[in-house]
Amino acid sequence: MKHELMKLPYSMDALEPKMSSETLSFHYGKHHQTYVTKLNGLIDGTKFENSDLISIVKQSEGGIFNNAAQIYNHDFFWNSLTPNETKMSDTLEQLIIGSFGSVDSFKEKFLTTAATHFGAGWVWLVQDGSGALKIVSTVNAGCPLTDNLNPLLTCDVWEHAYYIDYRNVRPDYLSNYWSLINWDFVSKNIVD
Ligand code: FE2
Repeated sequence: MKHELMKLPYSMDALEPKMSSETLSFHYGKHHQTYVTKLNGLIDGTKFENSDLISIVKQSEGGIFNNAAQIYNHDFFWNSLTPNETKMSDTLEQLIIGSFGSVDSFKEKFLTTAATHFGAGWVWLVQDGSGALKIVSTVNAGCPLTDNLNPLLTCDVWEHAYYIDYRNVRPDYLSNYWSLINWDFVSKNIVD
C-alpha cells in the first residue's frame, strides 16, 4: 500500500504571519513529503508493504520506524494547528485542571518542556491508560504510540519547524504556535 502525503486542512498561507507559507512549503512540501517517499521505498518488498501507518509505527524499527513515525507525527502536528479561533471542550479543560492544577500551569509546563527539549524532537500532551493527562517529549522521530499513550496535541521542535521564520529563537516560535492550536482537534482526541 502506497502511503500518501496528507492534505493540509488549510491553505499554505493560512497560518501567516505566525507560520509562513515559505515554512510550510519546506516543512510540509519537502520534509514531510520526503518521509512519505522514503517510507514507500523502504517498505517495498517487506512485511510492512501492506500495513497501515499506525501498525508500522508500532511494530517497526530503524529507518522504517523513523520515516513512518515522522509521517504520523507531522500528520498530527498539522492537525493540531488552525487559523481559526477554537476553544477547549469542558471535558478537556477539566482533565487539564485535574492533571496540572490550571490551564495556565499546563501552558507553562508544555511550553517550558518544548523550549528546553535538547535537539530535535516532539512535545506531546498525552492521555495515559488511567485517563490522566501528561506532557511527554520524544527524541527525533519518537512517538507516544509506542508507549501505549494516546496523543492529544503535539508540537514539532525540530529546527526545520521554525528556522525560516524565527531562526534560532525557539521560544518565539512556541508562543506563536500556542496561538494556532486547534483545541477542537485536541478535545476530540480524548478517549473516555
Ligand atoms: Fe517537522
